[in-house]
Amino acid sequence: MLALLASAQEVEKPSPTQPPAPPRSELASSQTKPKADSKKLSGAELYSMHCNRCHPERYPTERTAAQWKTILLHMRVRANLPAGQSRTILKYLQDNSGR
Ligand code: HEC
Repeated sequence: MLALLASAQEVEKPSPTQPPAPPRSELASSQTKPKADSKKLSGAELYSMHCNRCHPERYPTERTAAQWKTILLHMRVRANLPAGQSRTILKYLQDNSGR
C-alpha cells in the first residue's frame, strides 16, 4: 500500500512538467510545416545567405546568363540547395547579369 502511494506520488510528480511538453511539440511540428517554404525569400536574399559561405559573392554582372546556369549546376551541389532555391538564385543572377 505504501509502495502504491509512493508510486502514485511519483507519477504525479513529473506531471507538472508534463503540460509544457505538448505545446513544445506542437511548436516544433508547426515549425517544420510549410512555414519555411511559404515564407519565400528573394533570389538576392538566398544568394547572400548561401553563396558567400566559401567565397565572396560575385556580382551578377561578372558572368553571362549562360555562365550562371553552368555555375549554378556546380554550386548548387556545393551549397546543398534544394532545386527551388537554386532556380530562384539562378533567376536573380540571370535577371541582373545584364547579358
Ligand atoms: C561549399 C562551398 C561553396 C559554396 C556554398 C558555394 N561555392 Fe562557389 N565555389 C566554391 C569553390 C571551392 C570554387 C572554386 C573552385 C571551382 O571553381 O570549382 C567556387 C567557385 C565559384 C565561382 C567561380 C567559377 C568560375 O570559374 O567562374 C562562382 C561564380 C561561384 N562559385 C558561385 C557560387 C554561387 C552562385 C553559389 C551559391 C549557389 C556558390 N558559389 C556557393 C565553393 C562554394
